[in-house]
Amino acid sequence: MSVYSFFYHNIVSHSPETLVERFGGPFTRMSSWFAGKPIEIPVVIDGLKFFNPIGMSSGWTDSPSKIDDIHRLGAGIVTSKTITVEARDGNPRPRLVRGKNQLINSMGLPNKGLKWWVSNLSRSHDNPSIISIRGETINEWTELINELESFTDIFELNFSCPNLHEGVMDLSESKKIVNDIASITDKRIWLKLSPEYSVTDNINFINSVRENITGITAINTVPVRNEELGHPNKQGGLSGDPIHRDLVSLLKEVRSEYGTFTDLPVFAVGGINSSERAWNIFTEYKSIPLVLTAFLMQGPYFFRRTARYFQSKMNELNLTSLQSFIE
Ligand SMILES: Cc1cc2nc3c(=O)[nH]c(=O)nc-3n(C[C@H](O)[C@H](O)[C@H](O)COP(=O)(O)O)c2cc1C
Repeated sequence: MSVYSFFYHNIVSHSPETLVERFGGPFTRMSSWFAGKPIEIPVVIDGLKFFNPIGMSSGWTDSPSKIDDIHRLGAGIVTSKTITVEARDGNPRPRLVRGKNQLINSMGLPNKGLKWWVSNLSRSHDNPSIISIRGETINEWTELINELESFTDIFELNFSCPNLHEGVMDLSESKKIVNDIASITDKRIWLKLSPEYSVTDNINFINSVRENITGITAINTVPVRNEELGHPNKQGGLSGDPIHRDLVSLLKEVRSEYGTFTDLPVFAVGGINSSERAWNIFTEYKSIPLVLTAFLMQGPYFFRRTARYFQSKMNELNLTSLQSFIE
């Protein structure tokens, strides 16, 4: 067990969540000062150059400075926390139940809202930018796109948060919105998929919007009930190790339908909690591994450790680049 894991399981996981939320940012910032030079294994995805193929999924980076911290900690790819038009406080606490190898959250997309983000974002030229958004009406989606377009390379559309009153969106409504959004922006569009739908439904959904999206992010948390949550209907989203099999089932089908990364670029997330799993997802399913729960439970150097592991596999296999896996 690493020093951080010991610290997490014995102290952090028993501390009040307000304290953890409050000190998580400063702790991560301080850790980033000691991270050293990020490990470079450059990959190009649809014309965008990322400094390595390991990343963080949406949920933690609720400000531009946190996005920079995570890059400094060695993640080549970082997705912003989902931004909504209005600022949101999120659901009542407790909204994070911490298990041994999993989390259940009912955060409900707390975020500072569109206006705050627009006045705090600046266009980074070091790393491509991925912004996650969620609207409730086509007017809201349009407003988010119009206001954020000049700050991003990729929009990730979050149709799949189980912790909102409105919940996971209806598939036919989602199709219409994707197609409407594609007609108002020329930015790359990525879809965040929900495991609430069956693999077949998700594949049908992808097929029906394929020409209007660049790629998919799979998967969001799995909806579950938990009595400890403060949410009135006790509904939350499960993440971490137990959902890895859901990710793998979907990836198997996706890759039997869309064989290569170029056929369908995929950011894969869900229970990737070791460097070995990340490598397997990358090489076997031609998908870019992203993590969230592993970062929260195993600490800020997860990305660096994994990039180093990727380098060691490259040495073992005598490879100078990983680009061929995602072509
Ligand atoms: C505390 C927490 C907050 C999250 N917030 C978001 C979010 O704002 N937007 C989103 O698309 N997914 C969000 N997610 C889902 C993650 O991006 C990811 O899809 C999910 O946790 C599965 O990956 P993991 O097992 O590596 O955590 C959140 C997950 C957690 C645990």
